[in-house]
Amino acid sequence: MSIVLTDISTLVDGVLDDVVQWRRHLHEHPELSFEEVATSQFVYETLQSFGNLELSRPTETSVMARLIGNRPGKVIALRADMDALPIEEENEFSFVSKTPGKMHACGHDGHTAMLLGVAKLLSRMKESIAGEVRFLFQHAEELFPGGAQQMVNAGVMDGVDLVLGAHLWAELNVGKIAVRSGPLMAAPDTFHISIIGKGGHAASPQQTVDSIAVGAQVVTNLQHMVSRNADPLLPMVVSVTKFIAGTADNVIPGTAELAGTVRTFDAALREHAPILMERIIKGVTEAHRATYKFSYQNGYRPVLNDEAVTVELEDCLLSIFGEEVMEKAIPTMGGEDFSAYQQAAPGTFFFIGAGNPDKGIDAPHHHPRFTVDEDALPIGVKAFVAAVLHILAPAN
Ligand code: NI
Repeated sequence: MSIVLTDISTLVDGVLDDVVQWRRHLHEHPELSFEEVATSQFVYETLQSFGNLELSRPTETSVMARLIGNRPGKVIALRADMDALPIEEENEFSFVSKTPGKMHACGHDGHTAMLLGVAKLLSRMKESIAGEVRFLFQHAEELFPGGAQQMVNAGVMDGVDLVLGAHLWAELNVGKIAVRSGPLMAAPDTFHISIIGKGGHAASPQQTVDSIAVGAQVVTNLQHMVSRNADPLLPMVVSVTKFIAGTADNVIPGTAELAGTVRTFDAALREHAPILMERIIKGVTEAHRATYKFSYQNGYRPVLNDEAVTVELEDCLLSIFGEEVMEKAIPTMGGEDFSAYQQAAPGTFFFIGAGNPDKGIDAPHHHPRFTVDEDALPIGVKAFVAAVLHILAPAN
């Protein structure tokens, strides 16, 4: 049997109802990072029902399915993340979260459902596959240290030639797919700073070292990392996202706690960031007689898309969807642990448009009203199936 790429739409139509149902089921039953017990069980059992797949549990709450073709060839890994977020859902559709305080607010329910759809379709085409498709249903994308690295450590990438992953993307309208080689998503590193001054009466500031006033100077001066120290052509974000100090209107607090994130793509700039940051913190606190504690944690690596794999994917998707669908992806300073797989094999991560302002689907990711336009689901399934068949089962 040889598959003509243009037949893919018909195939995808055959699993579309399932994909929508799976997505809604997952949406109703969100589980947080590292706690995906029922989710992974659901995925495992659903995959089991397809046949032809070799299933395993690389970690406690992840699932891997291997579809080994009848002929030798390349090994392609496809990744979907499965975790939800600690957000109280404010949507009002029929399949809202049944778990208070937890919600699929990033579209990972859709990622999982789409990849199940891809697995269902491809599992029936074992004879056409030259090589292997490895389906990675990953836990814990949202919470550092992330599930991807754990799965890599468990060996899921052993022997893999290339890896593909996608995100349903609210900022991109449904009907569009955006790809890009090179930097796509930034390294999300984090920091904590304690400003240690000396507390006292608010009416006698001269007897105190005001941790709020010093902390405010630190916040302001940290922006010089971006505006005066980093190469303007290398993207960098420094955001102080937490500033906690004080208990009363007549007390100058002795300490202030700050935290935030630094986002970069460039490896050298990333390495230099904590050094720059500490120099500023040290200088500002010393100038004002305060001291400090500083800690810095590297998060996920940046997502850097391999050029050859990206071009191959883009050519394939262009032939399936046409120019009106394909766009050049705009890089984002958001992070993604998909980068862990890219350390093990060349790969590309791309965006599937899922926003639709005409239908009121316009909330950003991680928002209590976030959702995806379900019309994006068949597009995602089609894209993955097309990519796999393009690489592992060229029409002959
Ligand atoms: Ni996400």
